[in-house]
Amino acid sequence: MNGAVFGIFGASGCGRGIMPLARQQLIAEWDEAAQLVFVDDAPQADAINGHRILRYDEFLAIPADQRWMAVAIANSRVRETIAGRMAADGILSWSVRSGQGVIMDGVTLGEGALLSPFTCLTSNIRIGRHFHCNLYSYVEHDCVIGDFVTFAPGVQCNGNVWIGDHAYVGAGAIIRQGGGGRPLRIGAGAVIGMGAIVTRDVPAGATVVGNPARPMLERSTDVC
Ligand SMILES: CC(C)(COP(=O)(O)OP(=O)(O)OC[C@H]1O[C@@H](n2cnc3c(N)ncnc32)[C@H](O)[C@@H]1OP(=O)(O)O)[C@@H](O)C(=O)NCCC(=O)NCCS
Repeated sequence: MNGAVFGIFGASGCGRGIMPLARQQLIAEWDEAAQLVFVDDAPQADAINGHRILRYDEFLAIPADQRWMAVAIANSRVRETIAGRMAADGILSWSVRSGQGVIMDGVTLGEGALLSPFTCLTSNIRIGRHFHCNLYSYVEHDCVIGDFVTFAPGVQCNGNVWIGDHAYVGAGAIIRQGGGGRPLRIGAGAVIGMGAIVTRDVPAGATVVGNPARPMLERSTDVC
């Protein structure tokens, strides 16, 4: 028996924010002695914050019966690519949840979710794979969230909102609840700018900013 080995893919800000939560979770749910490392395609150092940084192929070479990895990469397309690579290599998607978060009733959460401290998923919510829910964000009742969706810190997603795959919601954005018998919909790949107040549907692929949120004509760079 070689036991299990655990990795956090990404040693940048996102990964370093997840590592302490992963360490706590490992102690609570697994074996304190299990190996826990950062995994990065282009490591800038041998170790950071007390954890080794391995390349992906080095992680695969560790003798282990089970390999688990959390993908701490904010860019959802990159996250999806890595998830595909992991599945092909028999690496299991690891969900990391802060002990200082709340999950209420009837919540379905896909594999690979990362739930930061002070996040809350309330009741009767369905969320897809590899959801990132950053510090102080919440998802209210009856929301339906797709795969590879990212919430930056402080997102307030109110009840009965449907969000498509790969949508990105910036820091401090507030999304109005659905009403009048229909959900408020945010389309796949949409980007909600930091601080936006979303009062109506956002089309797939659109970027919206401001209060009330309106489309941005052009977006120059990546979101995070
Ligand atoms: C909306 C967003 C994706 C646009 O990025 P971008 O395409 O690089 O936009 P730019 O920085 O070139 O800004 C273009 C214009 O929009 C304005 N703008 C950018 N983001 C804005 C926002 N969130 N709200 C209002 N205006 C915004 C800029 O001031 C600029 O205006 P100007 O042309 O009058 O100078 C980005 O600003 C954003 O909000 N990202 C989320 C950041 C975040 O939450 N990070 C959390 C990390 S954990």
